[in-house]
Formats: sequence, structure tokens, C-alpha cells
Amino acid sequence: MLIAESLQSDHIYRNNADYLTRQGKFESNVRSYPRKLPLAIAKAEGVWVTDVEGNTYLDCLAGAGTLALGHNHPEVVASLNDFLASGMPMHTLDLTTPLKDAFSETLLHLLPGNGRDYCLQFCGPSGADAVEAALKLAKTVTGRSNILSFSGGYHGMTHGALAVTGNAAPKNAIHTLMPGVQFLPYPHEYRCPLGIGGEAGVQALMHYFTQFIEDVESGVSLPAAVILEAVQGEGGVNPAPSGWLRSIREVTRKHGILLILDEVQAGFARTGKMFAFEHAGIEPDIIVMSKAVGGGLPMALLGIKRQFDAWAPGAHTGTFRGNQMAMAAGMTTLEVLQRQALTAQAERRGNWLKQQLTLLQQRYPALGQVRGRGLMLGIEIVDERQRPDGLHSYPMDARLAAAIQQHCFSHGLLLERGGRNGNVVRLLPPLIIDEEQCALLIARFEQALIAALAQLRAA
Ligand SMILES: Cc1ncc(COP(=O)(O)O)c(C=O)c1O
Repeated sequence: MLIAESLQSDHIYRNNADYLTRQGKFESNVRSYPRKLPLAIAKAEGVWVTDVEGNTYLDCLAGAGTLALGHNHPEVVASLNDFLASGMPMHTLDLTTPLKDAFSETLLHLLPGNGRDYCLQFCGPSGADAVEAALKLAKTVTGRSNILSFSGGYHGMTHGALAVTGNAAPKNAIHTLMPGVQFLPYPHEYRCPLGIGGEAGVQALMHYFTQFIEDVESGVSLPAAVILEAVQGEGGVNPAPSGWLRSIREVTRKHGILLILDEVQAGFARTGKMFAFEHAGIEPDIIVMSKAVGGGLPMALLGIKRQFDAWAPGAHTGTFRGNQMAMAAGMTTLEVLQRQALTAQAERRGNWLKQQLTLLQQRYPALGQVRGRGLMLGIEIVDERQRPDGLHSYPMDARLAAAIQQHCFSHGLLLERGGRNGNVVRLLPPLIIDEEQCALLIARFEQALIAALAQLRAA
């Protein structure tokens, strides 16, 4: 069956609304993105998505940061075509192949110290699968049962991953998630969780963390692991201060606590370094990787410090640990990221976008803070008509943030929100976005912002 041909002849639904109605009939109520981005995608190339009505959109969601090289990058497509024509196997459980061998060598080389001290664990295909594996491994290594996580962290939707995720809404519906999870406050430049702010707030959080671990009367047993994102994505694009990260690394090492860095979203050049933890110069014990590493196809892995590879053979398995096509797409993606120096380009373009957004902020005070690293940017939307708090931060305006997203959609710009109640507008464009497209992004964003303000602030 030739899919593209059959779709052209059989499918007569020509508008977004028809497809969305049918999707509503076919699929569970759980679907999420179509509620905010009501389109049916017909085609996609680079940073562009075209819907079934022929409308084009600049895609700054990019598969929630998965599509580092954008849609259907010619080199990724060529490597997939080549793979399919080669007779190589599509599925091999965790049996090795020459492709897997080459992919493993390429990926390991990107880990700290060229991966000398690390080994890889291929997990089930989603980021959450790899998070589950990391938590289990930390418990296996240490013989301990508790996990420390941070407010605003996002690690996935399976029972263990959700247990270490900050957002309470999806947790409240589920009883008895993985026990033994303790949350601590994550630094926030605009809304310091201790109400102190600035460097003093970060110092206080560092002190609090150390005290929490070292105080024999803190009330909790030493944890097996600390899990965190170096730049929180879903939590509202919150970069961790480097000093805070280094202090967490120091304390965890001292007490034999495994440090798990979740690089599912921030990894692979997005923040202007290959991994976001590199900004702090630390080496994690376990690195969780997914999204971009599969070049747009499902893959998730752990990078494990060899000394902590305590798994017994078969102690953590899964049918889909050997997605060979994802390895082909992933290997090409990693190669292009390096050859085209997209790490440095992400930093440059990100700095330019941040600068432009900061200029907009001067004219539109509803843009409370512009933050992020590289091409992982967030704009916290506030109600500047209200009274600021003691740290000069205005109350969140999630309603305006939702309206901005909606108007961005109408102006041909796809983006997602994150943060508390979705009050942060997030930009995760493909890393191949060029200067002209960046300028267009800013222009469309401003038009959408004006329309949203007119809608909600007119009175
Ligand atoms: C930091 C982080 N960890 C884990 C996950 C979960 O990945 P998946 O949705 O593939 O399970 C995500 C997904 O967005 C993420 O951003």
C-alpha cells in the first residue's frame, strides 16, 4: 500500500475542522495539543508546517523540542531511505547491529570526557521510560529508596516519572504514585521560592539543600538519587544557576547520592551546549536522553557512569529498545549538529531572539520576564496592572498567555506554553532556524501580542 497515494484518493476531508471532529470521535479525551493548536498537518519541511487547508506555520514547538534539524531534514530523509533500501533489520530487541554499534560510538563520544567513563542503556522509546530506568538503577546502586526532586520539574507521565514531576494537577487524579519522593524548591530568577531573590536567594537555596541532606534531624533518610533538569522546560523555561548546580553535584557526590540529569528536552545543542549541564561544568552520574537523539523517531537512553552500572543482566528490559530507524535518523542528526556547529548557532540565534524579546518587553510590560538559554526560551506573562510583590514581580496572567498562544496560531506561529498554569510562552524552534525566520518569528509574535492585549486589556 502506498500511503501518500492512498491518502490522496481516499481522504476527502479538506479542512482542519473536519479532521479535528473526526479525531475527537476516534481518540480519547486525553488528547492535548489539538485543543490549543487546532490544525491537521498535511506537510512539513524545515521550520515550516502546512495544514490541510494550505496554511503555513512557523513551528516553534518542533515536536516539543524533538526536531533539532526541523521537519524532514534532507540528510535525515536520505539516511532513512538508505536504511530502508539496505536490508538492515528494523527491530532487533537489544541485539547489536553494525548501525547500533556506530550510533553508540557516536553518542558516547558526545558525553563528558568523550564518554570514557560512561556506558549506554537503551530504554523503551519515551523519555519517561528512561526516567523510570534511571530511578530504578539509582535505587539498585545505593540500596536506598528515596528520590529528591524539585518544584517545577517535569520528567514524564508514567507512575515513577510523574511522582518526581512538580505539576500537581495530573498527580491529583492518581492515587499512590511511587512513594518516597521528596520535593525541594528549584531556583527561579523571577519568582524566588524563598522570597529573597537575586544571588542571595540562590545562596540560601544552596544552603537549604546542603542542610537538608546533612542535618541528621531533617526527618528523611538519605536519598538514592536527586533528579533535575539543568533548564526546566515544561516548568516554564527555568535555567538553574551554575553555582547552585555545582553545589548540588558536590553534596550528592559527598553523600553517595546519584545525580540524575534529565536532558530529554534541553539536551543535544538546544541550550547552546551539547548538554545543558555543561553550562555548569558538572558531570552527572546518570544522563537521561530522548527527543532529539532519535532524529524525530522514538528513542530514549541513559548515559550511566560505569561505576554505577549495577544492573544484573535483564534486570530492566523492554521490547522496543532497538529502534534501528531511530538510530539511523539519530546518527545523522548528531553528525549534522556537529558538522554545522549548531550548538554555537543555537546560542547565537537564541541571544538575538532574547535581545529582541527584551526590546519588546520595554514596550509591552505584560512580558514580565524573558529567559532561557540558546533556543530554549520562555516569556513569563504577567498582569502589570496589579501590584508587584516584594521582589518587583507582577502576578502571573495565564489567561493572557493563552490568548497570546491562540493569536500566535492565527498569525502562523506554533508555540506552546508552560510554567505555573501555563503562564509562560515558550519557544523551541528547530536549531536550523535562520536569521530571516527569527525576524519573522519576532514580527508574528508581536502582532499576536498586540491582538491578545486588544482582546483582553481593551477595557
Ligand atoms: C525534561 C523531560 N523529561 C522527560 C520527559 C518525558 O518524555 P516523554 O514525553 O517522551 O515520555 C519530557 C517530555 O517533555 C521532558 O521534557
